[in-house]
Amino acid sequence: MIDVALCPTEIQRLAQTNLSGVTAVVFDVLRATSSMITALEHDVTALWPVETIEEAHQMKTKLPGAVLAGERKGLPIEGFDLGNSPEEFEEVAGKQVIMTTTNGTRAIQQIKHAARVLIGSLLNLDALADHLFVEPPKKLLLVCAGTGDEFSLEDSIAAGALVARLSDEMQLTDAAILVQGIYDRVGEDLREWLRQTRNGRALIKLGKGRDVDACAKLSRYDVVGILRDEYVVRLGR
Ligand code: MLT
Repeated sequence: MIDVALCPTEIQRLAQTNLSGVTAVVFDVLRATSSMITALEHDVTALWPVETIEEAHQMKTKLPGAVLAGERKGLPIEGFDLGNSPEEFEEVAGKQVIMTTTNGTRAIQQIKHAARVLIGSLLNLDALADHLFVEPPKKLLLVCAGTGDEFSLEDSIAAGALVARLSDEMQLTDAAILVQGIYDRVGEDLREWLRQTRNGRALIKLGKGRDVDACAKLSRYDVVGILRDEYVVRLGR
């Protein structure tokens, strides 16, 4: 069965449930999980997703060689090495990255007690679908990280793209049927749709339109990211 958590309040509710038999895929298309997948493609050693800036600094004392990355209100955090633009994560080979973002890293933290947590984006969609096709979970939960407390269209588009690739193999809840319908409506016009979303418009206003375009590239990378205990690594490495 494929289910979808459509927004942060649903993620919060699920965080209090038993997810021991569940494989979760977290999507924060603009931009946290797209940046993570870019980092994994470019040979980062490990990504440590944390919720707060304070936790990031604490983690840095344990991992002094690590790079600090993330955003608040879309902008780089003062004193951090990197913001949250995918292209910044092309230069992290051989390093560990401690990352805190408004929704993406929080969503990962909230569902980290699932049996498996995978990192989803448009950038690695086919790699994810192939992996889940070979090893189909009984229960698959697609987690749409959202924006602030609200639903984000771009996360649902990516979740729908994954549902579309797996729907012959697995049963769907109403939410999964809904996101598949959204993806069918979008078709191949991902860049234009992403630019029209609330997050897309906000990033363009901040001068980060290139990030939106970078996040819209379907299946650019053959990468599956997985959470191992507290950090994300590339599967198969
Ligand atoms: C988030 O985690 O909320 C996003 O990645 C926000 C952003 O990239 O600006």
